[in-house]
Amino acid sequence: MGFIPENVIEEVLTRADIESVVSRYVLLTRKGTNMWGLCPFHSEKTASFSINPSKQIFHCFGCGKGGNAIKFIMEIEHLSYPDAIRHLGALYGVEVPETGYSGNDSQKERKNRVYDILKEAAKFYYQSLNDPDIGKPAKDYAEKRGLTKQTLDNFGIGYSPMSWNALYDVLIKKGYKDPELLESGIFKLSEKTGKPFDLFRGRLMFPIFDSFGKIIAFGGRALGDEKPKYLNSPESLVYDKRNHLYAMNFARKEQSKQLIVVEGYMDAIAMHAAGFKNTVAALGTSFTDCQLKLCSRYAEEVVFFFDADNAGQAAALRAVKMMMDYLKKLTGINIRIKIAKVPDGKDPDEYIKVNGAEKFKDVVRNALYVEDYLLFRAEHDNTDPRTGVLDTGRYQQDILTYGSWMNDDIKMSRMAGVAAPLLGATQQAVISQMQKFSRIEDKKQEQTDIRTLELERKKDIESRNAYDESITNDSDEPSEVTSPQIEFKKVNDQASDNEILLFAYALSLGNALADAKNISKTDIIRPDDFSGDTLRELVKIFLNIFDGKNETLFARMSDYFSRLSINGQPAEEVMLRAVSTADSSPDVKIKSDMYLALLCKVRTAIINREEDRLMNLRAGADEGGKKKIDEVLRKLSEYKISLQNRIGEL
Ligand code: CTP
Ligand code: MN
Repeated sequence: MGFIPENVIEEVLTRADIESVVSRYVLLTRKGTNMWGLCPFHSEKTASFSINPSKQIFHCFGCGKGGNAIKFIMEIEHLSYPDAIRHLGALYGVEVPETGYSGNDSQKERKNRVYDILKEAAKFYYQSLNDPDIGKPAKDYAEKRGLTKQTLDNFGIGYSPMSWNALYDVLIKKGYKDPELLESGIFKLSEKTGKPFDLFRGRLMFPIFDSFGKIIAFGGRALGDEKPKYLNSPESLVYDKRNHLYAMNFARKEQSKQLIVVEGYMDAIAMHAAGFKNTVAALGTSFTDCQLKLCSRYAEEVVFFFDADNAGQAAALRAVKMMMDYLKKLTGINIRIKIAKVPDGKDPDEYIKVNGAEKFKDVVRNALYVEDYLLFRAEHDNTDPRTGVLDTGRYQQDILTYGSWMNDDIKMSRMAGVAAPLLGATQQAVISQMQKFSRIEDKKQEQTDIRTLELERKKDIESRNAYDESITNDSDEPSEVTSPQIEFKKVNDQASDNEILLFAYALSLGNALADAKNISKTDIIRPDDFSGDTLRELVKIFLNIFDGKNETLFARMSDYFSRLSINGQPAEEVMLRAVSTADSSPDVKIKSDMYLALLCKVRTAIINREEDRLMNLRAGADEGGKKKIDEVLRKLSEYKISLQNRIGEL
């Protein structure tokens, strides 16, 4: 495990203010000292998602999720812990050392090998295309498709020769080994020979870059009518197609406020060649929420082109629904969505070739805002093409459904205004019907979200317990000790309500714990005040970071919570709930009295357990032993009485 240095994490947490991190995704409003918004992790109508600026944490009282800025980024961007830190580091100008950021060095090493292989492959394909003999058929095809030399070079387009092993042989000569070649996704294992062979043969090759220009995959087009028309690299260690858009590496450099999304590689390339360099293409999948988020990082408006055929139009509707759901959840993401349509059922590539770039500008300009597109769809889809008569029953159903997707009242009201006369109803009646649809839809969504969250939580807890074992075992013992035959200690994550509350009050007092007048040194919690491993571990960490003036104390602690469980639940959820109880104490005096009372109760419970243990021991002891035990029991009982008296006084 390569760890990120503590001081770097500290600096990331200091600079990445929780409010600014979260408001990139969620619209927040101030209420008291906290900020509130709709939870991005589950569907809800009233805000139960809160930001506590003084503790630098987020917490949803609805679904329980909570933690610091790093945890938020992990959850919302689906990143690992080190990647989330790196992501925040890049945003807030904290340098995160390369060596330390990957949780798993061998994985990083493997990734780098795959990147190298893909780069070598692209070189090989490029050379093959430009070889006068080998590349001839592909060159002819490219010319037929109107791809100039400049375009081919710009996009790094190449050719995979008609061979089972041309690329394989080249890479083996360069020293690459079978397992890593297979991992790159561009080779397949032959069942007959047990050796890898080239996946792409006789195809025009499009390297797929990530947003920063690194090659992560390939798409290969057949030169004729052979099937499949396009063959794409499978997902791999470095390629997750939901997260990427073809040509984004070029498009983002335009710094245009608008991005155009088309369906095919060839469409994107034709658009770039025609001067629309703000174009990207979805990668042979339906458009995903991750891709929308990627767009929102670079643009304010996205214009979509979907195929004109039935399948394309059905896909358009699904994509619109997905995007509207997403924007409802991530209220802080502001992006305008437009839908464009190429006339005559052509795709952009074909249209530009026939009509030229100027004409295509009009097509982009004529794109409809999503609500207008839906209004058009509802009317168009339900009008009999021969008679021109509108089926108002079906129209009503569609328009209410589409209206209920809207994430803002103005759009909904505008749609209702247009639909009302067609339905012979008032605008208000249509609006309230749309809202009713929306409530039903949200309820359904809420239930799905709850189920998904429960499943995620189960998996999460399992992985935490695996981690628990490693932290309770990484003591100062020499490394041989952690050999496989050593049995892992089963982690005891149990904690009593009083223990949880006690620790919560300590956290809530935070830095005040050191200077509260009635709390002496001996009254500060210790690991052995707690019965379970998890709380002991957390208290140990707390005492280490806590020095009476640590500004990111709570945010730092949250980091550790999210790796542990308490009573089989995510530790941060248990602790954040308890801390919010502690926080509601009206002043420091009352809070510290509560803290002391809990401390006495917890220490009393320890004595009770110790007394039971000694009584058992006593039964089997000889006379001398009994005498000694009685002496200890007497002292314990005195101490217990003193604790009881203190509780009485508080
Ligand atoms: N696609 C794919 N696999 C296929 C067919 C299509 O991955 N078997 C993806 C490709 O990314 C392609 C996009 O879907 O670019 C659009 O497909 P399609 O409309 O069929 O192809 P065109 O873009 O029109 O390709 P061309 O102009 O080369 O015929
Ligand atoms: Mn095409």
